[in-house]
Amino acid sequence: MSDKKPSFYITTPIFYPNGKLHIGHIYTSSVCDIFARMARLVGRPTYFLTGSDENSLKVEESAKKQHKDVMEYLDEQAAEAQALFKYFNISYDEYIRTTDTVRHHVAVQEMWKRYEKAGDIYEGEYEGYYCVGCESFKTEKDLIEGKCPTHDTVAECIKEKNYFFRLSKYTDQIKKLIESNELLVTPAVRRNEVLCHLEEGLTDISFSRPYKGQKNAILVPGDSTQSIYVWPDALANYIAALGFGSVDTGLFETFWPANVHVVGKDILRFHAEIWPAMLLSAGLPLPKEVIAHGLLLSGGRKMGKTLGNVIDPLEMAEIVGVEGIRFYFAHEVPLTDDGEITKDLMIAAYNAHLANGIGNLCNRLLKMMISYDVQFDSEALRTSQQWSALDTLVSDCVNTLNIGRYTNHIWDIFAGLDRKIQETEPFKLFKTDPEKAKALVKEMMETFYTAVFFCSPILPHSASKIITQIEKREMPETPIFNKI
Ligand code: MSP
Repeated sequence: MSDKKPSFYITTPIFYPNGKLHIGHIYTSSVCDIFARMARLVGRPTYFLTGSDENSLKVEESAKKQHKDVMEYLDEQAAEAQALFKYFNISYDEYIRTTDTVRHHVAVQEMWKRYEKAGDIYEGEYEGYYCVGCESFKTEKDLIEGKCPTHDTVAECIKEKNYFFRLSKYTDQIKKLIESNELLVTPAVRRNEVLCHLEEGLTDISFSRPYKGQKNAILVPGDSTQSIYVWPDALANYIAALGFGSVDTGLFETFWPANVHVVGKDILRFHAEIWPAMLLSAGLPLPKEVIAHGLLLSGGRKMGKTLGNVIDPLEMAEIVGVEGIRFYFAHEVPLTDDGEITKDLMIAAYNAHLANGIGNLCNRLLKMMISYDVQFDSEALRTSQQWSALDTLVSDCVNTLNIGRYTNHIWDIFAGLDRKIQETEPFKLFKTDPEKAKALVKEMMETFYTAVFFCSPILPHSASKIITQIEKREMPETPIFNKI
């Protein structure tokens, strides 16, 4: 039997570069990063994709506002996003930009040709509303007093020639695939919303708009008066990055279909209805799962660039550090619910579980290990039962994409160790029965080391620092997590 582990392909949505990325974007990316690191930790060949969605109207508008050439603006934005991801330890394997003419434009046009071949494209006239904030066509039902409820802006009323995509044709097929969990949509509440929407029947959707000279538009093959609408353009990034339709590097073969697209619940329908239909039309396999996470709220409303109520991730990192933020996302925000995020909540979680919890434990155990001369062999630990139990837990939590179970389990181990120190008081015991105290410290250090090793997907930097200190048998010069 081959012991080759199955591959793992995870994606973030690609971000609109129409302003600085905010903490909501760092949230999506950090969650994916944690899953990607978990998968690598248990030895799965992993590919983690992120990128930017550059061919949209709102991006052009942002460039114009800054009196910049669109491409110059986009290059700056992509460099800034990549630097921010680096700062937050987002270990992506590839950053796709939809202005990439070699991979992305080619893939989008190849897909278009396949829709046409399947008889899924026809010419028509669209009359209705459009919200530039969402980059999405709207019906009157979607608006409140003519305004988009997400962006609080008046939707444009438009009448224009478009090419339509026969989305309606795929309603039943997609419904069956979701009902049978062949296409997993999680959580259940969002799955039900999608199924209810499918029950009403999907309507055909505009897949192109009149080309008005936008710099980076992808033109409809065979009709240069029309450009491909941003969503069929953007969604194809997930296969374009693997070289579909262009450079064959074997990535598509190895990693498609994706294990999971992680998306905010606001863009779930694009991923659970339109994207599967595009793939079915093109004769390609569907992703295995789409997870919709909740939104971070500020003042009770979705934080967003268009609304201007954003929290700057760098300012937050000044206070609790990058890993304080990553920990908060993993431990304090249930993946599938909305969560208010404030400075005070972040500080409270940091103090309770990082300064206390892992930080304090590291200090106490390391000090006892050094001063009682407790011998400790990390190599032998790797074949221990507790090591393989955590390895199995991480594997399971990657398979089930359960970040909450994984994080709680590990922080329960830290809490258990805290209790054990209080109950057994090895520092007192050492005075009366040193051998017993040493055995206790050794046992606790083994458990601690194992848990630290397996929490590295959440705290890559601190976990590695703690492990180094233990191996070197040295106290860190400054506490790993200073109390705030
Ligand atoms: N460009 C599209 C996605 C195309 S994917 C083929 C887009 N971009 S976005 O920049 O507006 O959003 C990117 C991601 O960030 C989405 O998953 C969105 O849900 C997420 N978030 C934006 N604001 C957020 C919060 N306030 N909280 C959590 N996630 C948030 O949509």
